[in-house]
Amino acid sequence: MTANPVAEPSPAKPDPNAQTVTSVRHWTDTLFSFRVTRPQSLRFRSGEFVMIGLPGDNGKPIMRAYSIASPNWDEELEFYSIKVPDGPLTSRLQNIQPGDQIILRPKPVGTLVHDALIPGKRVWFLATGTGLAPFASLMRDPETYDKFDEVIMMHTCRTAEELTYGRELVEALEADELIGEMVAGKLKYYPTTTREPSERMGRITDNLTSGKVFEDLGLEPMNPATDRAMVCGSLAFNQDVMKVLEGFGLNEGANSEPREYVVEKAFVGEGV
Ligand code: FAD
Ligand code: A2P
Repeated sequence: MTANPVAEPSPAKPDPNAQTVTSVRHWTDTLFSFRVTRPQSLRFRSGEFVMIGLPGDNGKPIMRAYSIASPNWDEELEFYSIKVPDGPLTSRLQNIQPGDQIILRPKPVGTLVHDALIPGKRVWFLATGTGLAPFASLMRDPETYDKFDEVIMMHTCRTAEELTYGRELVEALEADELIGEMVAGKLKYYPTTTREPSERMGRITDNLTSGKVFEDLGLEPMNPATDRAMVCGSLAFNQDVMKVLEGFGLNEGANSEPREYVVEKAFVGEGV
């Protein structure tokens, strides 16, 4: 008599889109960055985003849009993330460790790309919070410095601590043996805080409309003949900056119709 064979639990199928975490760095209680392996076949334009996530409890992955913060020449992929305490993804993602796996759908898309801007002399990168991420990619891409004589990175957060990831990135770029020379004199970094005293303060919209940023950096005001802009922040920030840019005579472009500026949401807020 043969015993009924006991059914072995079938091993979970490895996800073909799994990538391995190589490093993690926590910047504040609410911000961290991490690097993962890059699928060999993944090509992207600096500034684009992909969907990343973790397996869910019911077997259905929890996926969210994330800007790729590393440049397209990097052999790994970097992401810069918020930690939302009750967020379905980031309440768990914030605990990843080197060696863990995340899911990455290798279909990059987005409007914050050089192809969506017509040629110009200066490009303005305007970001709040984690909206810095696509510019962390674009600031490290030599194409940015090939295309423009001046690159102005305005980044605004509530507190100085929240600016640290961007500040260290710019400092590392200036010190970099390869890109440092290309960046020198071209990249102008203008970080500000709004709710904590610091060297430079104020909202991006206010510093543009008052002319303070032009005075501080010794630059001519924005002009549609020479200036291009890329914007990434909350919906309210994006809408307000768009009005300011339109006031300077710049028009919104897209991949299909390049113009003077492009916009992307850094996240989808409640009720939006
Ligand atoms: P969710 O349920 O997605 O969000 C809960 C709430 O948290 C939201 O309603 C909103 O009020 C707030 N929130 C979500 N994301 C942010 C944020 N980044 N900053 C401030 N408040 C936020 N997030 C990143 O951290 N880094 C990125 O590079 C990034 N790129 C994005 C690119 C695009 C095109 C879009 C649409 C979103 C991007 N996001 C990015 C937001 C991201 O998709 C998730 O919303 C975020 O990871 C939180 O996921 P969650 O499941 O924990 O919470
Ligand atoms: P403020 O402190 O004056 O609100 P948040 O953390 O709320 O997403 O904001 C990130 C940064 O973006 C803060 O410095 C905030 O300034 C600024 N900000 C928020 N909304 C706008 C807006 N509509 N226009 C300009 N700056 C904004």
